[in-house]
Amino acid sequence: MQAGSQAMTLSERADALEEHMMHELEHIVTKSVLFNLADGKVEMEGGAALMEKNPGKYMLMGADPRLPKMPDKPTLMDYFRCRFASTAHLLQSATHALKAGHSEKVVLACLLHDVAVVSFIRCDHGYWGAQMIEPYVDEEVSWAVRAHQALRFFPDEAAGYAYPDLYVKYFGPDYQPEPYIVDEYKRARIHRHYMTARLICVNDIYSFDPNAKVNLDDFVDIIGRNFKQPKEGLGLDNSPSAHMWRTMLWPTRFL
Ligand SMILES: [Fe+2]
Ligand SMILES: [Fe+2]
Repeated sequence: MQAGSQAMTLSERADALEEHMMHELEHIVTKSVLFNLADGKVEMEGGAALMEKNPGKYMLMGADPRLPKMPDKPTLMDYFRCRFASTAHLLQSATHALKAGHSEKVVLACLLHDVAVVSFIRCDHGYWGAQMIEPYVDEEVSWAVRAHQALRFFPDEAAGYAYPDLYVKYFGPDYQPEPYIVDEYKRARIHRHYMTARLICVNDIYSFDPNAKVNLDDFVDIIGRNFKQPKEGLGLDNSPSAHMWRTMLWPTRFL
């Protein structure tokens, strides 16, 4: 370590390391503003500055070599294996729903309910997740994924769902959902698919067991029957949400 770097803060060192790793790559890898916002910085590096810092290199316009390689025509399974940061929670929820004898649509909804959290973004994850899967699943499934975001905060004792103790721990005893969540809840309560979304919540709370044995292979058939895998590859089709999957496929493309 150089003498000067002793004085660097941990975050400066992390930035320097990241910078170094970027230089090792054949192409210029760029970060979208959102990644910087998540680091508490309202900033982005412009194209000209990036070219100047990386003489002789072009912008990355495809796969990021640091990430697991995806096949030419990726399936939902490939995203599960190569892009989802964690699948245990989804598999546990879906396994619980399967054992309880729920319909395939409910099981699929449980399997995909937090798809946005594990692959894309946390804030408003129900809305993002629903949009991601909407073109490929029955409307009941995507509707339920969207609605579980709001229903999570409201108990339904008759359906076997109490306000989660975990939420008191995570958000404090005084946390109140924002008005848009309250409104969503009121709309969902009277929707014909209410129970599907509620069952996501019911199966969600029992699914944090670190010792539970779960396997993606148990869901191959249910996915096959209920998820319309595009023949071009998920993200390479022209569905209204294909761009979201492509962004996961190539998260550091310049444009
Ligand atoms: Fe969720
Ligand atoms: Fe969940």
